[in-house]
Amino acid sequence: MVIEASTREKPSFAVIDAIVHKHNVEAGAVIPVLQEIQETYGYVPPVAIQRIAENMNVPASEVFGIVTFYAQFRLQPLGKNLIKVCHGTACHLCGTETVAERLSQVTGAREGETSQDGMFTVERVACLGCCSLAPCIMVNGETYGRLTPEAIDKIVNEIRKKEAKEIPAPVG
Ligand code: FES
Repeated sequence: MVIEASTREKPSFAVIDAIVHKHNVEAGAVIPVLQEIQETYGYVPPVAIQRIAENMNVPASEVFGIVTFYAQFRLQPLGKNLIKVCHGTACHLCGTETVAERLSQVTGAREGETSQDGMFTVERVACLGCCSLAPCIMVNGETYGRLTPEAIDKIVNEIRKKEAKEIPAPVG
């Protein structure tokens, strides 16, 4: 589930504690707890790592280690647009690295990061399930294939144009 920036809640101890207790506070439940925290906030806030550790009686470094080990977790809030870059075999053979490099340049976000303007989050994925269109990316659930660096420029420009239209012009 993608949580829009506008609907994301601010992290609260009450919500974090309720999620932890729902999973019985067992050390083995750290991953499901982190998954639910991410589902709630769109990312795992640093304050949640500390709180989970205290509640579950495990070192914060261990919780942090889990968050950074598994690619499914992110430590930064999602940007307005989520871009998944396929690094599966077919895409890799067809030039994903070049496409990913250009994407990083034009969005200002490397894989696993959100751009400073909050416009883009770029994630690395294993296979988007459309290998015949390699190399592929997915933008907000929509797949784009047979990509080139020029096609990436066009896609990102279109998104920026669309976002600019949604921001009302200043009055006066
Ligand atoms: S390898 Fe990229 S879509 Fe399958």
